[in-house]
Amino acid sequence: MVDTFARIQAGRERQQLESDVIHDWYRFVLAYPDHLVTEMLEQFEAQPGDVVLDPFCGTGTTLVECKKRGIDAIGIEANPVCRLASQVKSNWDIEPQRLREVSQTIVERITPQSNALAFSSQPLFEDIYEVDGLKEKLLDDSPEARYFISSGMLKRGWMSEAPFYKSVLLLDEIKALAAKGIDGALISALMIALASILVETAANVSFGPEIYVSGKKEDANVLQAFCEKVNKMAADLEVVRELAAADEIADSNIQVIEGDARVCDHVLRENGISEAVDFVITSPPYPTEKDYTRQTRLELVFLGYVHGRKSLQRVKKTMVRSHSKGIYKADNDGRYVADVPEVQAIADELREKVADKTYGFAKVYPRIIEEYFGGMHRHLESLLPVLRSGGKCAYVVGDQRTYLRTYTPTGEILALLAERLGYRVLDTLVWRVRKGTTGSGKAIKEEIVILQKP
Ligand SMILES: C[S@@+](CC[C@H](N)C(=O)[O-])C[C@H]1O[C@@H](n2cnc3c(N)ncnc32)[C@H](O)[C@@H]1O
Repeated sequence: MVDTFARIQAGRERQQLESDVIHDWYRFVLAYPDHLVTEMLEQFEAQPGDVVLDPFCGTGTTLVECKKRGIDAIGIEANPVCRLASQVKSNWDIEPQRLREVSQTIVERITPQSNALAFSSQPLFEDIYEVDGLKEKLLDDSPEARYFISSGMLKRGWMSEAPFYKSVLLLDEIKALAAKGIDGALISALMIALASILVETAANVSFGPEIYVSGKKEDANVLQAFCEKVNKMAADLEVVRELAAADEIADSNIQVIEGDARVCDHVLRENGISEAVDFVITSPPYPTEKDYTRQTRLELVFLGYVHGRKSLQRVKKTMVRSHSKGIYKADNDGRYVADVPEVQAIADELREKVADKTYGFAKVYPRIIEEYFGGMHRHLESLLPVLRSGGKCAYVVGDQRTYLRTYTPTGEILALLAERLGYRVLDTLVWRVRKGTTGSGKAIKEEIVILQKP
């Protein structure tokens, strides 16, 4: 274990570029460390010309590391905000100077309004700066802002009024760029800069590791944070583009698809991808009660991907079931593992434990286990036709005691499902051990399950 951990940490030293280059554009608490990807690419001896797939690509850690090494990669992701972040981070064609210029023009134009919004929120100035008309106009123009209010997010304090309206101002300006003929990739990059500073600067949220509303700040310097983010993005682009121009980074093709990794073969085929995948490096969800749409709710709403119950459900339903607020009557992935005793033993233990529980969510715990492993079974099965013979996969997962302290050895069961489907299990590396968060105090392993298609 020490060995694996040390090797993965040492991956940092072998990286050609500092960890924060590109990855920092938009961070996700649930991301894995980029040097873990470095280590796996090296273990697999992945080279330019190979194709790496991350079927649960999140914010693109695998894709960016592949791109830094000139290796082709494909990402599949169900959450549209994460998909956009992955796309932006793996597109280095944007002219850094152009990115700076466009953002500066926007910021200069809206600075007076942003200042008025800031002053109007201070008691001394509220009579001098009249911004009601401005707020009304912003709401008229922005269905995203209207939903943010009608869904109760403003009232519940996810953002305070002044930073909220400043962020809407910025959002509207970025959206307006399309009508001015500005390139879509550049607009997406600015959207990700906004998404990133929403969480880091504008909102009242913290992660621990769940997202929660914390310490209300009355105001925040939204425009300054945005400029700093865009400048960092431009500076990183300069670095990687210089390396590419000097042939230090080979050209590679990175594709990011919004889709459901439980039907990988279908998703790739639909998107015209026919080349075989050589390697998979990924961290799928695990059954931990983490709602990936809640972690990114602010960005999903602000960027207009979620504008009501239906649109939120659509995103949730594309995901592997892993928490009690994202499980539906019609779900039926459990049938794929109905004859797997190891999964049924956990579900049975939970059925017994929840029998006398009165709160509604507990009743679905056994189903989450079945739906989760059923979903992962479907994923592994759908991967087989697209993975080349001899192709290797690394699945980073953690054991759990989330549900009434019932031990769920996620890696062990995934390995078992993979074996049933015909994969070879080459190794299971324990790379981290942490204390359980459920009060049991018992250690919980995080593992990398290494599979191979014969
Ligand atoms: C642990 S996170 C991956 C984090 C990623 N390794 C990174 O560094 O950002 C798991 C991701 O899987 C996504 N996901 C869940 N179910 C999915 C599905 N069925 N298809 C595609 N993506 C899915 C979630 O939205 C989440 O972004």
